[in-house]
Parts: sequence; structure tokens; C-alpha cells
Amino acid sequence: MNFEELVVSRHSAVNFVEDEKMTEEDFKKIFELTKLAPSSYNLQFAHYMVITDETKKERVKELSHHQYKIHTASAVVIVMGNKNSIEMPEVEKIYGPLKMLKIMDELDYKMTMEMISGYAEGLKSSPNELDVEMARNVGIHAMLFMLSAKHFGFDTCPMHVHHVDELREEFTIPDHLSPVMMITIGKSVDKVRSRGYRKPVGEFVNFNGF
Ligand SMILES: Cc1cc2nc3c(=O)[nH]c(=O)nc-3n(C[C@H](O)[C@H](O)[C@H](O)COP(=O)(O)O)c2cc1C
Repeated sequence: MNFEELVVSRHSAVNFVEDEKMTEEDFKKIFELTKLAPSSYNLQFAHYMVITDETKKERVKELSHHQYKIHTASAVVIVMGNKNSIEMPEVEKIYGPLKMLKIMDELDYKMTMEMISGYAEGLKSSPNELDVEMARNVGIHAMLFMLSAKHFGFDTCPMHVHHVDELREEFTIPDHLSPVMMITIGKSVDKVRSRGYRKPVGEFVNFNGF
């Protein structure tokens, strides 16, 4: 399937074939492509919790308006933003090796660290900025996850997360991880949701101003 065919063939699954299992290997292949997603300063905010356990999946279903496809999906994947991504220990994990391997020189490294510190301070200085930045980054990541899944023959459906506090407690999600959305994944049943109306390009794109 070429890229155009891949994009066109992705639909949000109406329902999944029950009892289709996905292995950690299946997920690793998907994540090896997903990890190439762009992110602000390459800080890679996205963190995933893959839930394949049947009992745990049922608990997510209870917390998600009992949407049936969570029951039939091979897994439900909670997509989270990692608030620690802008903290220096995490930043250094990404940029430290580049300095060590001399891909980045001392000056370039120092300037990059200063720039990222300023960016991080800006995000922390206003209450919603970090949440918005995480939603931006996680959304792009999640889209690539869904396309990568399709590439390997799996169907998906993006969903909101509900009852985040209960979800956090149930799965002992640490405070620095913020659930942003979730994705059900598996093999879609034959019934494909007909493509919802899409606005014509001219309606949602302006060139060179309004
Ligand atoms: C943030 C978000 C939340 C969504 N929540 C649900 C949901 O709870 N249940 C569902 O069946 N589809 C959900 N969808 C899928 C949309 O309904 C779907 O993307 C849209 O109708 C377009 O269809 P398509 O993805 O097949 O092109 C959600 C999509 C997004 C982006």
C-alpha cells in the first residue's frame, strides 16, 4: 500500500473482531515507526500504556461510557503527555549523547540547553501552556501511531479519555503523565464506517492570509 492508499484506507473502526490477539512484537513494530514523529525540540512528550489484559480492558470500558469496541479490541492504548519531558534530566537524556558523540559541540549544546530552559520556563509560567503543548505533541504522535498500525494491518479508533482520576488510580499512572486520549486497536469487523463528510479544501485552507 502506498502512502495515499494507506491514508485513504484508515477509518475509525466501528467494531473489532473479538478474540484477535496482538503481541508485544506487533506493538514494537508499530512503535518503531511511531517514534519518528516530530516533537518540540525533539523532547518526545508522548508516553503510551498498552492494555491487552481482558479484565483491565473491561475496567477502561466501564470508565469510558461502556463503548463496546473497547471489549472487542485487541488492546486499548492510553496516550499520555509526559510533563517531565521539559525537565533537565529528560532533556539531557536526549541531548547528552549528541554532545558525547561530538555530533554537537560544547557551544551548540550550551545554546540549545539555554533555549530549551527558556521554552520550559515559558510553558510553566502560565497554567494551561504545558497542557496545550502536550496535546499538540501527543496528537501528532498518536496520528502516526494510527497510520503505522494500519501499515502493519491493524485498525484503530481514537477516543477521548473519561474519568481520568479513576483511570489514574486504577492503573497507578504517575502524576507526571497526563492522559490525553486513547486508541482502541485490533482487526476491524467488515462493516466499515462510511467516510464522514469532509469539508472541501477551499473551505478550510487560506493562502497568504484572509
Ligand atoms: C479526539 C477524538 C475522539 C473520538 N472519540 C470517538 C469515540 O469515542 N467513539 C468513536 O466511535 N469514535 C471516536 N472518534 C472517531 C471519530 O468519530 C472519527 O475520526 C470521525 O468520525 C471521522 O471518521 P474516520 O476516522 O473514519 O475518518 C474520535 C476521534 C477523535 C479525534
